[in-house]
Amino acid sequence: MTFEVKKICCIGAGYVGGPTMAVIADKCPYITINVVDLNQERIKLWNHSDLNKLPVYETGLDRLIERCRGKNLHFSTKIRENIEEADMIFISVNTPTKNKGLGAGKASDLKWVEGCARDVAKFAKGHTIVVEKSTLPVKTAEAIKIILTAAQKSSNSEKKISFDVLSNPEFLAEGTAIKDLEKPDRVLIGGENINAINSLSKIYGNWVPKNKIIHTNIWSSELAKLTANAFLAQRVSSINSIAALCEKTGADVREVSKAVGTDSRIGCKFLNSGPGFGGSCFKKDILNLVYIANHFGLKEVADFWENVVDFNTFNQTRISQLIVKKLFGTISGKKISILGFAFKANTNDTRESPAINICKDFLEEGAHLSIHDPKVSSLQIEKDLGIEEQKTTQSNLASEGSWCFKEKITDAIEGADAIVILTEWDEYKKLDWDKVSTLMRKPSWLFDARGIISKINIEKTNLNFWSIGDGSL
Ligand code: NAD
Ligand code: UGA
Repeated sequence: MTFEVKKICCIGAGYVGGPTMAVIADKCPYITINVVDLNQERIKLWNHSDLNKLPVYETGLDRLIERCRGKNLHFSTKIRENIEEADMIFISVNTPTKNKGLGAGKASDLKWVEGCARDVAKFAKGHTIVVEKSTLPVKTAEAIKIILTAAQKSSNSEKKISFDVLSNPEFLAEGTAIKDLEKPDRVLIGGENINAINSLSKIYGNWVPKNKIIHTNIWSSELAKLTANAFLAQRVSSINSIAALCEKTGADVREVSKAVGTDSRIGCKFLNSGPGFGGSCFKKDILNLVYIANHFGLKEVADFWENVVDFNTFNQTRISQLIVKKLFGTISGKKISILGFAFKANTNDTRESPAINICKDFLEEGAHLSIHDPKVSSLQIEKDLGIEEQKTTQSNLASEGSWCFKEKITDAIEGADAIVILTEWDEYKKLDWDKVSTLMRKPSWLFDARGIISKINIEKTNLNFWSIGDGSL
């Protein structure tokens, strides 16, 4: 048996809520989906007639929004009305690391999730299936259930409300969100009531093969999400540790990755070394795991995972320090061109981007940074660096420890002492390095922290070259 789901409300119109609901709307035209958010500005952008202004940049998202928006997909700030009418509610709000109080710096801050649960308890009518889409610590569903059960008990007889809570963590990666949602490796559904589980499975069944829809208990589902992110982040830290060793020994990390990745037990994905993992989730989810392990008295388990995060921080500092050393130990007053600010290619997201710490290190050393990114705005960079942009066309007029944003790559490079590639955007791979070197001040350097430029393309230029994990340079 399943419950009939005709109306869905998704609370949270962010990087997960927006794309996820766009795909469900596209695959299930018979369901009306209302995505709601407290943030009016964000909702305005989701409703913008110019699809380039959508608040989330993902390949293929504009196409879906064009197809479904105003038909069976709606974005608004009308939280109460849409909760009242929904048969199924997805909670897709932010769960950042707590910055004060008990568990500060490690535990997830669940105040937004709790706020949603209270709204659902207050406004829901009839039977409602509540789906945790946010990444949550193990046993959060229980807390949500307690809030909802209290509402159920105190509701008057004519309102007659009841709830089922499911855990349905999201595994999409930014930059490939639509592809990941349309062809997921798996859909995980944790819950107690098989009818509620089947109702959600039926929705996914419209486009996901049955054998990819996994049913578990709620706590396994919550823990599996944290574990998947921890394992992925661990691979990034593992390969970055080997990159540092390659640079000392004459090995090349790309060759090591290739050789290691061909072992089918290890696999070839997530073995690209770089400036370290960024994004809103890896660090927070591992720290959450650390908090949970400590809570249960498993100090060694906590230490094991905390090292993955600590190594990531070391990796960023290692890169900024080696660049300063190669530029004769000082970058004060020098112009450094930063190519890429997003935490990875094909997204406009900068949360926890390695570029933030690396740029802050350079600014501290007195450099003038000229930053380019095809999708990140100067306003966002200003927020992340916490320093106002100094708009000047001539680098010799720029003050020490300042930065400016350039729309064109050539403008960012002009007169620079060094270029530092921090995000693996395709357009950087295609640059004519011979031409680039003529625009720079001599001696000029190219630091490729993503390992995307082949040294053959640099050999004919008069650029000094460093590429992550390449000990032959
Ligand atoms: P986000 O910050 O982009 O979006 C969250 C939105 O929720 C914000 O717009 C915020 O205004 C809104 N919100 C918060 N409280 C609200 C409330 N009470 N009522 C209405 N709206 C409210 O976050 P995100 O990146 O979409 O992540 C959401 C969750 O999904 C997190 O738990 C995250 O760990 C998880 N997740 C994220 C990704 C990713 O790639 N970003 C992937 C998988 C899972
Ligand atoms: C990650 C997971 O891949 C998703 O499955 C998960 O749903 C999501 O976190 C989440 O919970 O938020 P995301 O952070 O969007 O997705 O992006 P990834 O592709 O995982 O990249 C994370 C970071 O690792 C990036 O900074 C990326 O540049 C870096 N990375 C990744 C490497 O340095 N090397 C690699 O080989 C792969």
